[in-house]
Amino acid sequence: MLYRLISTIGLGCALVLSVSAQSTPSVCSLSTILVNSRDTLEAAQTCTTAAGDIVIEYGPDLPSEIEFPALETVDGSFLSINFDENILAWRFSAPKLHWVVGDFYFSRWVNLTTIDMPLFDHADRLRLNHLPNLTTAHFLSTVSRLDYNYEIRNTSLANITNDRLLYTTFVEIFDNPNLETVELLALRNASYNVALRGNRPGLAVRLRDLKEVWHLELQQISSLSVPALKNVIGHFIVNTSSVGILSAPILETIGTWYDPHIAVSDNRGLIVTNNPSLDSMSFPQLKNVTLDLLIRNNTSLGILQFPELDRVAGNVALEGPFTQITFPKLDRVGGELTIGVNMSPTICRPFVDLKNNGSIRGDLSCPAFSEPSQLDLDADDMQEYIDDYLEWAATGQTNAGPRMTVPALNEIMVIVLFWSLLVRVW
Ligand SMILES: *[C@@H]1O[C@H](CO)[C@@H](O)[C@H](O)[C@H]1NC(C)=O
Ligand SMILES: *[C@@H]1O[C@H](CO)[C@@H](O)[C@H](O)[C@H]1NC(C)=O
Ligand SMILES: *[C@@H]1O[C@H](CO)[C@@H](O)[C@H](O)[C@H]1NC(C)=O
Ligand SMILES: *[C@@H]1O[C@H](CO)[C@@H](O)[C@H](O)[C@H]1NC(C)=O
Repeated sequence: MLYRLISTIGLGCALVLSVSAQSTPSVCSLSTILVNSRDTLEAAQTCTTAAGDIVIEYGPDLPSEIEFPALETVDGSFLSINFDENILAWRFSAPKLHWVVGDFYFSRWVNLTTIDMPLFDHADRLRLNHLPNLTTAHFLSTVSRLDYNYEIRNTSLANITNDRLLYTTFVEIFDNPNLETVELLALRNASYNVALRGNRPGLAVRLRDLKEVWHLELQQISSLSVPALKNVIGHFIVNTSSVGILSAPILETIGTWYDPHIAVSDNRGLIVTNNPSLDSMSFPQLKNVTLDLLIRNNTSLGILQFPELDRVAGNVALEGPFTQITFPKLDRVGGELTIGVNMSPTICRPFVDLKNNGSIRGDLSCPAFSEPSQLDLDADDMQEYIDDYLEWAATGQTNAGPRMTVPALNEIMVIVLFWSLLVRVW
């Protein structure tokens, strides 16, 4: 190994190497340590600190277990995102690694079952992608600080549990066919999103301390616990899930796009769709939804109660086997209100009253469902629309010309989506 090390890093003399063995051999100070063979791996294995990035690429003679026994910190990123050839090792370990300053990003190790980094604590981004045999990755539990991503896609993990991570930006957990639970028990704030999509149907989700999130998007879940959630800045979507109960006991606001301090978003509102087992929904403190409130195709949901809901900036569209719909405080619907029920039209009565007293800006359709319409509004009209909505919501008066009708919200969404894409790129 010594021989290989010398030949690899081109040190001319063994004396220099043995003297510097205590400190940092020079391979460790490279701006990129490329590992793509047994030799380059052995050189890299001497490092306690990597001054730059470590990049692992496919090499035909890489061993089936890849270990970095001394490595404690990586001042750049730790990357293995080779797209040409899958890496064949089944185990990766770095028993002392606790800090990667940039990204820890592994992709396309087809045989990898185990990532063993018991002290891992901190990175900018943590991304696992296309590791279809990965079943053990305890460092997902030990990590306590991430500045951007907690991203886990296409693995065989059964549980993702962490009770140390307080803040992050993106939580994206997609396409994990064996995943049974996601428990982020300390997470207070996800300043962009928590999105669960394409995982094993029936995922149990606990976000015990989550107080604020921009977008919450949950697909194919069987349960959700968000006891501390107070503010969803963007949208809240529960779709194609087997949840029986959906409860957000202290959630007050969904959507704050008109806050001048929050200029861009792609908010959609509260969307609860295609959940055949859902028979109880409880949002007892919810006061405000921006944009839409869409509750459709939840075929077991008979009773709908929003006791504190006062304002919906966009459309309200409710469709299902409702026997009771109660919105006692509803006072402003900026868009259309449509309810499709096959029960008695008496369910419509309170909404007819709301329409008659001017609380619904768009059309009312009940008991026949009418797909909320869409109008075009160009970018220059957006601020005018927002101002107009706010003025109308505050005073009940509207100065809106005909183009100020509500469905233009869709156009606003396109514009803000564009901006939010820019922001994500940036
Ligand atoms: C998961 O990763 C494997 C290996 O790269 C790939 O062949 C497969 O298509 C991926 N599956 C999904 C759903 O992305
Ligand atoms: C969440 O994080 C964002 C961005 O870091 C910050 O602006 C916001 O105040 C935080 N909210 C809470 C409730 O901590
Ligand atoms: C709900 O899931 C279906 C099927 O996966 C998808 O087509 C639809 O776009 C989703 N709707 C929302 C609002 O996420
Ligand atoms: C209603 O939801 C069920 C269950 O998710 C789904 O199979 C069906 O396609 C949905 N129907 C419509 C019209 O979206």
